[in-house]
Amino acid sequence: MIKVNADIHQAAELLNKEELVAIPTETVYGLAGNIYSEKAIKGIFEMKKRPFFNPLIVHIKSLEYLKEVAIDVPENAYKLANAFWPGPLTLVLKKKENISDLVTAGKDTVAVRIPDHPIALALLEILDFPLAAPSANPFGCISPTQAQHVANYFPDELKMVLDGGICERGIESTIVGFQEGKTILYRYGSVAVEDIEAVVGEVFFITKNDTTPDAPGMLTKHYAPKTATYLTENVAELISSFIGKRIGVLLLDGKLAIDSQITTIVLSEKGDLIEAAKNLYESLHQLDKMNLDVIIAQKMPEVGLGVSINDRLERATKK
Ligand code: TXA
Ligand code: MG
Repeated sequence: MIKVNADIHQAAELLNKEELVAIPTETVYGLAGNIYSEKAIKGIFEMKKRPFFNPLIVHIKSLEYLKEVAIDVPENAYKLANAFWPGPLTLVLKKKENISDLVTAGKDTVAVRIPDHPIALALLEILDFPLAAPSANPFGCISPTQAQHVANYFPDELKMVLDGGICERGIESTIVGFQEGKTILYRYGSVAVEDIEAVVGEVFFITKNDTTPDAPGMLTKHYAPKTATYLTENVAELISSFIGKRIGVLLLDGKLAIDSQITTIVLSEKGDLIEAAKNLYESLHQLDKMNLDVIIAQKMPEVGLGVSINDRLERATKK
């Protein structure tokens, strides 16, 4: 049976024994293991049923520690680290030789961030090694934003979830890398692209392509509820095409009046995209449990975190 508690010493003891522990971060819960333990890293891929071509994010405790995992760090990476760490921005950098191919999926780069969560930071502080941690969900499922989501996914396989409450940001970190002097976006996430551009200038996009998953967060189907999900600008019209079905509706704000018979979740009463991002996955978890025929999600405005939320919702619609 999985244990759910906030005891960092118990978590450290397991991690020191090359076992896995789910940890809280400000974005989503991560399934963590010692980056220098082959047993732990293999265990992460097995527990998640994650393909080995999909590399992991390395969580470090401080900017000083960056030189233990990455080399040739460009000036713009330091600018971004200074602006956003600890925080939900992952940097893809040239890896140091001793970082295993299992962590990086054979790439010569490593993805790194400092999480902005007091319990995660306290844990990293008492460990002698960084933690590789993908989101703590089976591959392709909705990411966990509370300890209980993780416990529901891995009730027997996992020994412990370190409980840090509800994740403040609610969607994964934004991932950027650097190629030929350009800043490249690999995954939309909790830091808005506009905020990155304010620090380093224009951000370029890699094409979304399933066959060359440079960042498999870019895989088309990902973060998906089991219930058929639709994303639309015209919620009322789509509802009318599902008469007689059990419908769940996910709205940005409280402006649209929906028939009270229809299960409706509002992400942010006042339409705040940061609050909406925080509530997104928990709302999808809730709707997915309700045995509905369809989930109809309202498209967010394409600014700030609205872009990241739409990105996740678009993936949720893929079957
Ligand atoms: O917010 C987050 O980033 C959470 C928390 C736990 O930190 N972690 C997370 O991990 O979302 P995961 O494994 O679900 O997503 C990691 C993403 C994948 O899309 C992976 O392809 C990309 O990071 N990635 C890792 N290493 C990479 C590399 N060297 N180059 C490009 N993308 C990389
Ligand atoms: Mg994930």
